[in-house]
Amino acid sequence: MVNFKEIGLVNTREMFKKAIDGGYAIPAFNFNNMEQLQAIVQAAAETKSPVILQVSKGARNYANQTLLRYMAEGAVEYAKELGWEKPQIVLHLDHGDSFELCKSCVDMGFSSVMIDGSALPYDENVALTKKVVEYAHQYDVTVEGELGVLAGVEDEVQAEESHYTKPEEVVDFTSKTGVDSLAISIGTSHGAYKFKPEQCTRDPKTGKLVPPPLAFDVLKEIEKQLPGFPIVLHGSSSVPQDEVDTINKFGGALPDAVGIPEEQLRMASKSAVCKINIDSDSRLAMTAAIRKTLAEKPAEFDPRKYLGPARDNMKKLYVHKIVDVLGSDGKA
Ligand code: G3H
Ligand code: 13P
Ligand code: ZN
Repeated sequence: MVNFKEIGLVNTREMFKKAIDGGYAIPAFNFNNMEQLQAIVQAAAETKSPVILQVSKGARNYANQTLLRYMAEGAVEYAKELGWEKPQIVLHLDHGDSFELCKSCVDMGFSSVMIDGSALPYDENVALTKKVVEYAHQYDVTVEGELGVLAGVEDEVQAEESHYTKPEEVVDFTSKTGVDSLAISIGTSHGAYKFKPEQCTRDPKTGKLVPPPLAFDVLKEIEKQLPGFPIVLHGSSSVPQDEVDTINKFGGALPDAVGIPEEQLRMASKSAVCKINIDSDSRLAMTAAIRKTLAEKPAEFDPRKYLGPARDNMKKLYVHKIVDVLGSDGKA
């Protein structure tokens, strides 16, 4: 049993309170490998932004949960080396799907866990979430629950259709479970295809897809029911068109990829939304840089020569999210 405090991590409690009061959101970036983690830590240290490092089921299957946890411990030390005296770094389990998994993460030093019971019947979601909260809170580990189902299919995380969070359920759910934050569904979804072309309009000048707006009315109603309570948005990648274009130019095939417009995420950041999950955009930034390097330098076979530019491109993306979209720079 290792407590997160022993390895220099922090939980989300103070971070979320400050973010809601300050009208900004904390970036929650998924990581699966060293280059992503380096880029996240460099970006957070440079901008002095609190940051949440997220480990998903897919990441655990790919890289091993224990290894990822020690990499996060290394990330704290690396951040200090970069001149960030008191790094504000959370290690978070993304989409935990069982009590046993959440417990194992708490026991090995995670400072925050998500128990995603959103696909379960309401009462079962309440019971499972409450059980995780009761365990995690003994160690001061914070817990994210979810109400409402996101649309889309993304590797391990999938749901057939989207069901917006019902504002009339949020008070009952948060008070019965004791969760520290609540992920909601207001039209975002996982992956690089967040809307079908038929759900979008087309920009007459560029021919690009313009997605429908998020359900801000549902968010407002939830805020009214739960004043000052930390709200989380999953599926918040914007699917930058320049990265998609680069991928397609150098042999990729991502037709009609579309994400959440940044302006809508800026608006959400100013509300009770205090954690914004971004994974796909980092995947796109990495893939675009690797494709470009390999296409332009076909004789290159040193992985550092294409993973290095990929890391730089991801860092640029993370800094952009922090400074230009979420507004969390200078808050740590
Ligand atoms: O929530 C979804 C994340 O993008 C994680 O996806 O399970 O493929 O790592 P993953
Ligand atoms: P994106 O696929 O939009 O990056 O969402 C990531 C996410 O919600 C991780 O939990
Ligand atoms: Zn998610």
